Amino acid sequence: MSDTAHLPQTRSGKGRLADLRVLWHLMLSPVKGRTHAERLESFYGGQAGDYDSFRERLLHGRDDVLDHLCFNPGMSWVDMGAGTGRNVLRVADRITDMKEVLLVDLSKSMLNVAREKLNQRQLGNASCVHADVTMLDLPDESVDIVTFFYSLTMIPNWFAAIEVAHRILKPGGTIAVADFYVSRKYPDSGQRQHSSLTRLFWSNWFSADGVYLSSDHPAMLQHRFELGCLSERFGKVPYLPLLRAPYYTFIGRKPEVGH
Ligand SMILES: C[S@@+](CC[C@H](N)C(=O)[O-])C[C@H]1O[C@@H](n2cnc3c(N)ncnc32)[C@H](O)[C@@H]1O
Repeated sequence: MSDTAHLPQTRSGKGRLADLRVLWHLMLSPVKGRTHAERLESFYGGQAGDYDSFRERLLHGRDDVLDHLCFNPGMSWVDMGAGTGRNVLRVADRITDMKEVLLVDLSKSMLNVAREKLNQRQLGNASCVHADVTMLDLPDESVDIVTFFYSLTMIPNWFAAIEVAHRILKPGGTIAVADFYVSRKYPDSGQRQHSSLTRLFWSNWFSADGVYLSSDHPAMLQHRFELGCLSERFGKVPYLPLLRAPYYTFIGRKPEVGH
């Protein structure tokens, strides 16, 4: 089922106003700041409250990934770049018996929205952590599931983020990702090949908002983890009816022995 299937086809006046605020931040408001944290705050500060409804129609594949994950009793889950907590809340009924769920994000505005939602839902085992995921201070091999939903493309030091995920995952633990990407010019057989125009257009289009598409993300994930499944697709973009943005979903496993 597509991410958007449950949404009404027409936007209410309130919904359109919220979209306009988000579009203003996406297209017209310059991102300022000397550090990555300041730039994130400059980007998300004015749109965190309107974030979910617009991104519901842009960030595809998140529910497909969530549907495939097993949130067993006693397990721990770290959602890296958790934003407003949309993904944890989406599976709230399935995580009540987990030991711990951590929502890690570097944007205070996004985490404030997440914290409010967690309080409303009274999810006692879930908590927000304000941190840069590349410096996340959790013990080695202590976590069962690590997810990145549309966050790797916003993390400049994304390879460090993947290394942290690898370090904190227990052997046999699960990593799951959904994000935009572009293919390699000459991908491995069986993988999608995007045209030069597709690669150029989407890389440039997203980079204006600090979202950096790469062909190396799926490659690095496959290099560090055992592949469960990789799916490469195109998804709709709000207000651009003729365009489809390339995204992938990846589910993998940390090998049982050192890799
Ligand atoms: C596009 S949003 C996705 C949010 C959420 N995962 C979702 O699916 O809606 C990317 C998130 O990554 C966070 N982020 C970017 N770089 C980060 C970093 N180095 N450490 C922690 N969070 C980061 C941003 O603040 C933002 O909330």
